[in-house]
Amino acid sequence: MVNQFRWKALVLGLFVSINANASFSNIYDTIFELKCIFCHDEATPTNGNVNLSSYEVIMGSAAPQLVIPGDPEASILYRSIKDGRMPLGLDPLSNEEIELVRQWIADGAVNSQTPQ
Ligand code: HEC
Repeated sequence: MVNQFRWKALVLGLFVSINANASFSNIYDTIFELKCIFCHDEATPTNGNVNLSSYEVIMGSAAPQLVIPGDPEASILYRSIKDGRMPLGLDPLSNEEIELVRQWIADGAVNSQTPQ
């Protein structure tokens, strides 16, 4: 199971380096969906109470508060990937991926996802 995600992560790394874009939809599609949500699709005590399944859920999270718009260094979501603690069990995110998340939060953490 983890191997399957490693493959996706590899392809993903290539994609991000070609198409760097710090929008929420890009970060969601290329990072959260492939490397995070299979562990964080609902908030439970065993996954740190972290649910990353949608913009609304991420921004609405209070315990812990995941994102503080404009302040990446104070945002647990950013610190967890910058420290390399997340994604648990996978290779750390690339510098480019980490930078996309930093920039998205620094830019105010707006939602660019189109309603489905
Ligand atoms: C294999 C399962 C798994 C994957 C994949 C995973 N997480 Fe986690 N995550 C956990 C567990 C378990 C915890 C709680 C225990 C801990 O903190 O180690 C956690 C905790 C967290 C926390 C809470 C604070 C902290 O840093 O401990 C954040 C934020 C987080 N994860 C973000 C992410 C992000 C972002 C990704 C994808 C890049 C990700 N996680 C991928 C299992 C996972």
